Amino acid sequence: MKVGIEDICFYTANYVLDMAVLADVHGIEVEKFYQGIGQVEMSMAAPDEDIVTLAAAAAKPIVENHDMSQLRTVLVATESGIDQSKSAGVYVHNLLGLPSHCRVLEMKQACYSATSALQMACSLVARQPEQKVLVIATDIARYDLNSSGEPTQGCGAVAMLVGANPKLLEIEPVSGLFCEDVMDFWRPNYRSTALVDGKYSTKVYLRSLKQAWQDYQEQGGHSADTFSYFCYHQPFTRMAQKAHTHWLKQVKKELSAEAIEQQLEPSLVYNRRIGNSYTASMYIGLASLLDNTQENLDNKRIGLFSYGSGCVAEWFAAKVQPGYREYLRTAYHQQLLESRTAIDYPTYRRLYEFPNPTDGGDHQNPHETTGPFRLSAISQHKRLYEKTSS
Ligand code: HMG
Repeated sequence: MKVGIEDICFYTANYVLDMAVLADVHGIEVEKFYQGIGQVEMSMAAPDEDIVTLAAAAAKPIVENHDMSQLRTVLVATESGIDQSKSAGVYVHNLLGLPSHCRVLEMKQACYSATSALQMACSLVARQPEQKVLVIATDIARYDLNSSGEPTQGCGAVAMLVGANPKLLEIEPVSGLFCEDVMDFWRPNYRSTALVDGKYSTKVYLRSLKQAWQDYQEQGGHSADTFSYFCYHQPFTRMAQKAHTHWLKQVKKELSAEAIEQQLEPSLVYNRRIGNSYTASMYIGLASLLDNTQENLDNKRIGLFSYGSGCVAEWFAAKVQPGYREYLRTAYHQQLLESRTAIDYPTYRRLYEFPNPTDGGDHQNPHETTGPFRLSAISQHKRLYEKTSS
């Protein structure tokens, strides 16, 4: 029996900042952002958007197109938690009108947790092949203003329906794992922005890649030659390019620049325009790879490297299912990116600084999102969500 991804769909906020605007304000050559870190734009959430509205919007097209009666589990992966106790997934479950007989929870380990959620989903389906699991990764990446991380912000969510006999991707059972207690990036409960040791974090990322691949080999994983395409965690797209070069060196493969680009570039198309979306980042990359590869990927093996600071990393493999193209959402994804509203620097600052209430007052949010769900208010310490007419 094959277990894997039946459907994948992402969503991102409808405001977008061109990195040229940030470069101009900071007096930096825009090529440092466009080329040096490989980011052209970043999505910015409206005041009435959060990880719940992004997650529900990502999953909505999937819920509308599949029979949800066998859905038994909803797993939401995020590191932008909105509550220390209640899972963001419970709000999402309600907004989507999902079946009541469902286990719903939130998972956390920096950007890695969506991979853990996907693996858990595959295990559940392997035990009971008739059941479906909805995995949603959703995050809003925030760093301090004027910090080196500022150009690597962004936001987005991606939803995946996991089941038996998948239409898109079989997730193969062998994984290579690595964990190490490091302080490369973290966010204490009292902060709304992450703390990061940027250069160190890139070193730990690459070290973890090496270790995870080594473990994948020791666990009986496929040889390097059997992989046709690659998708790495993308805090910024240049990181994925560095990672692939690093991996090629490790497996002692020498490829032309064109061949390297062919293996990796399709996975970078969407993230270059969305920015970091933490847990969602690698899976938006996966959607990008499926949507943007010219070659028919039937039966091709994709190598995936998931990394979450702190840190936990995993190398695993997905096999593209014959006829997958019929089930892609390419036009919808592209339209989503094209229809965003470009913002200027003052608007970026207004969104960045929009207050997050901490008292129990009645805080109504302006209606700005064009998405199907909104956070209409925070009142008496309760988050109030509503469906829009979109
Ligand atoms: P920085 O220090 O400002 O940048 O920020 P830099 O000076 O290293 O320059 C970046 C690149 O631009 C360099 O290229 C420069 O040469 C080039 P490289 O040497 O790396 O190949 N450059 C130019 N290129 C063209 N024209 C120019 C120009 N000027 C310079 N004019 C840093 C970089 C990554 C430190 C920063 O963006 C940062 O702190 N980001 C946040 C941390 C991060 O993303 N780390 C990645 C690994 S950790 C991870 O992935 C986990 C994470 O997603 C969180 C989680 O798990 O939850 C972050």
